[in-house]
Amino acid sequence: MSSNSWNAAIAEDVIAALRDEPGPVLIALQAIQEKFGFVHEDALQMIADQFNVSRAEVFGVFTYYHDLKKVPHANNAVKICAAEACQAVGCDSLIAEAEKAGLEVEKAYCFGNCALGPAAMVGNRLIGRATLEKLK
Ligand code: FES
Repeated sequence: MSSNSWNAAIAEDVIAALRDEPGPVLIALQAIQEKFGFVHEDALQMIADQFNVSRAEVFGVFTYYHDLKKVPHANNAVKICAAEACQAVGCDSLIAEAEKAGLEVEKAYCFGNCALGPAAMVGNRLIGRATLEKLK
């Protein structure tokens, strides 16, 4: 469950609890996003300090993963896969239709549901052979 209220003390606890995890930078970024619904920019330095890596290294991981957000995103955002297999079956027109219908759309890059494209995600629900009607 995520909350969008940033709290540095809680973030410090979340990060410190991951001290002994392997690959802790990504895990810490994901934990912060899970806790707050986004990754506050102050968390980058906290993670760098905790795991003795540079802020640039943390920033590199943060920007590599499209699912990690700088700001809270709308709960009703629809993610639509825009990777190759879904492009081949019309994701571009689905994205255009969804935006025209007023949905907040985020492009994603492969949900591993390529055989049932275009694929979309609404909340935690994966939708195959997505249509505007299914997204609504
Ligand atoms: S390419 Fe769209 S789910 Fe894999």
